[in-house]
Amino acid sequence: MRLLWELLVLQSFMLCLADDNTLHGPVFIQEPNNVIFPLDSEEKKVKLSCEVKGNPKPTIRWKLNGTSVDIGMDYRYSVVGGSFLINNPNKTQDIGMYQCIATNSFGTIVSREAKLQFAYLENFKTRTRSTVSVRQGQGMVLLCGPPPHSGELTYAWIFNEYPSFVHQDNRRFVSQETGNLYIAKVETSDVGNYTCVVTNTVTNNKVLGPPTPLILRNDGKISGLIFFL
Ligand SMILES: *[C@@H]1O[C@H](CO)[C@@H](O)[C@H](O)[C@H]1NC(C)=O
Ligand SMILES: *[C@@H]1O[C@H](CO)[C@@H](O)[C@H](O)[C@H]1NC(C)=O
Ligand SMILES: *[C@@H]1O[C@H](CO)[C@@H](O)[C@H](O)[C@H]1NC(C)=O
Repeated sequence: MRLLWELLVLQSFMLCLADDNTLHGPVFIQEPNNVIFPLDSEEKKVKLSCEVKGNPKPTIRWKLNGTSVDIGMDYRYSVVGGSFLINNPNKTQDIGMYQCIATNSFGTIVSREAKLQFAYLENFKTRTRSTVSVRQGQGMVLLCGPPPHSGELTYAWIFNEYPSFVHQDNRRFVSQETGNLYIAKVETSDVGNYTCVVTNTVTNNKVLGPPTPLILRNDGKISGLIFFL
């Protein structure tokens, strides 16, 4: 019995040696995965992973959008152990499809395409929004108009001052598609300032829109203008 075990151990050991020593074409150990890089991350470096075995040791090249990358062309690029590293990644320059290509004397293998994307959320550009005036009992919509971004967003609205949020009910609704706030049958208690809060779920960044004041329109025989004069 003991001898059998020893034989088995010896045999698997020899298989390992054989695997390392036999000449063979390149084989992927790891192919690159899609990456969504948060632009505000502490680590200012993107890694597209690629690991290959082969004998003779394969050489590795990378393609971006189907075109070979010349590593020396950009000081931000490097290839370490087959993986492609980009320092200070740039959302306009570096977005695209990356592929790892390994070659030795037996042949060439091409990895799957990995998509590099960026997640970010810019600040609102406008500082003020004009007052919205609504008749009591009317419906209305306040537009959020999120700033330039990439990555999934969620929306909420502050009523007057943080941390008082608009609670959704049968009159009030916040669209998670557009960020817009819908209020049906406006009441006096709705009067106040509304601020859209946009959150990027990938970076966890939050930005606040400019507040929109909501007032009730005085629609009697006396118009609002004359009333205030
Ligand atoms: C990213 O690249 C674009 C185009 O080359 C350039 O205009 C921009 O300044 C770069 N952004 C950063 C943060 O370096
Ligand atoms: C790669 O292709 C994508 C999609 O067509 C494009 O948006 C991007 O700018 C390209 N990247 C480069 C570096 O050419
Ligand atoms: C709304 O904002 C304006 C300008 O900041 C302020 O004067 C006003 O008092 C606010 N209204 C309420 C109800 O908080």
